[in-house]
Amino acid sequence: MELRTLSSVNGNYNLQSYEDTYNNFDWKEAEKAFFWYETGKVNMAYEAIDRHANTFRKNKIALYFRNETRNEKYTFKELKELSDKAGNVFKATGNVEKGDRVFIFMPRSPELYIAALGAIKVGAIVGPLFEAFMEGAVKDRLEDSEAKVLVTTPELVGRVPVDQLPALKTIFLVGTDVEEDDKYKDFLKHLKTASKDLEIEWMDRTDGLILHYTSGSTGKPKGVLHVHNAMIQQYQTSKWVLDLKEEDVYWCTADPGWVTGTSYGMFGPWLTGTSNVVVGGRFKPEDWYKTIEDFGVTVWYSAPTAFRMLMGAGDEIIKKFNLDTLRHILSVGEPLNPEVIRWGMKVFNKRIHDTWWMTETGAHLICNYPCMEIKPGSMGKPIPGVEAAIVDDQGNVLPPNRMGNLAIKKGWPSMMYAIWNNQAKYDSYFLPNDWYVSGDSAYMDEDGYFWFQGRVDDVIMTSGERVGPFEVESKLLEHPAIAEAGVIGKPDPVRGEIIKAFVALLDGVEETDELKEDIRQFVKKGLAAHAAPREIEFRDKLPKTRSGKIMRRVLKAWELDLPAGDLSTMED
Ligand code: WT7
Repeated sequence: MELRTLSSVNGNYNLQSYEDTYNNFDWKEAEKAFFWYETGKVNMAYEAIDRHANTFRKNKIALYFRNETRNEKYTFKELKELSDKAGNVFKATGNVEKGDRVFIFMPRSPELYIAALGAIKVGAIVGPLFEAFMEGAVKDRLEDSEAKVLVTTPELVGRVPVDQLPALKTIFLVGTDVEEDDKYKDFLKHLKTASKDLEIEWMDRTDGLILHYTSGSTGKPKGVLHVHNAMIQQYQTSKWVLDLKEEDVYWCTADPGWVTGTSYGMFGPWLTGTSNVVVGGRFKPEDWYKTIEDFGVTVWYSAPTAFRMLMGAGDEIIKKFNLDTLRHILSVGEPLNPEVIRWGMKVFNKRIHDTWWMTETGAHLICNYPCMEIKPGSMGKPIPGVEAAIVDDQGNVLPPNRMGNLAIKKGWPSMMYAIWNNQAKYDSYFLPNDWYVSGDSAYMDEDGYFWFQGRVDDVIMTSGERVGPFEVESKLLEHPAIAEAGVIGKPDPVRGEIIKAFVALLDGVEETDELKEDIRQFVKKGLAAHAAPREIEFRDKLPKTRSGKIMRRVLKAWELDLPAGDLSTMED
């Protein structure tokens, strides 16, 4: 395909004045940064990587990777070639056609990114799974999406119940000494020998790109589908909000298993041609500061829980490192406490910029910008091109300072395209007059700043991770000693919320601390460590509606010593 000089390669789209841009901006103009706005045929991996490999950026570092055993870097040109090869590896299976799901379940590594880009290049929808998922969580997602190909590691493949997944045809293992047969393939071996010549699959802008599973308050996790069109907003916000510029070294601490780790851990930074730092391994304050120092990180995107943990580790450690390169710090996932912003001012001499968005929204929606005054505790103002409001349950816009549903006018470029196999669920996000309802409650002040108040539903945000109480309750009910279970988020100074389970045991079972630990391990092994309840409380009986639904609202009132509200639907 013909290549043009792109305005985005040299253009400066960083935000100079919030008001001016907000009043004059049009998404139709923004997409002109990409040549495909004329043809309509697009591929995210091409735009994020290949495009730069044909410019002055070809030998620029696209990816710095470090974990306990590896320390590597890849240029845009190298990533282009490797992902072309990966595309051919997928093609050769005969099991990847446009729209097929390729899931990736492995710890952060260069191969994870190479596989994801390769799959996108051949038109697949990528489903990234967080490495900490256990069998139950892995099965739900592969089953619902009917994934045909999985890329995983010999260490993790034991958590994939292959026999119960009829749609799954090929499993690539990334590791050494992989034994091959019809189903299992050695990814690295095939990557090595694959051809570098790949015919990219050109997609429509509304063709599927990525599937992120996320939790609601009811039902199993649902697949949020994003399409190639999302790139317009991911690109634009990487300029406006992340403020990325040519010479930046950018570090997003999120795993690609979550939307932050793809929208802003892969797509956004690479669409702008920025050097992207990826670090694997466990959280350790020293390692984090060392990452900033060693790579000369200039723009850093993380989460309140992480900042609070760093804060808890003390300011003495910071003095051991040179963090002078840092120029812009951002946060997402939970409320960013003013206290954390003050700490950031003290130790980094930088304000931490809060950003609000969701898996479903695909990209930033309400943010603090470098060029705008921050009100600590506020999430900021809507990005240009986006209309945000506080509405009542009927979709009427409420005046400033009134609490209500945080809603966004439908139609921003990166809005989810579908909930996988669940149109009703998708429809349930919208009020009749085209307001997308987030599930968060908030208010807007007279200056147009938005202030987060809490979730409207029972969704739990723990350490920045979204956990659906239903998923945890279902797992608890599988435990042989448990008769009933109800799960809530309990406020916690470091983690935002922790998961607390109320449990009624089967008749005759003794309430012991050992049993509590056993239950905790049961959820940890069956679902994921972050989904396991940190607190368990035994009760003889749980509050239920007459139709048998656990009333989490009442559990929460018990926990927080609050009035339980209307109990008319409660069984006797
Ligand atoms: C929920 C979405 C998309 C990034 C990570 C989370 C909460 C997100 C903020 C913020 C207060 C926030 C909301 C939202 N949330 N950002 N800046 N301040 N709360 O994505 O897992 O889809 O969760 O995270 O409750 O609805 P997610």
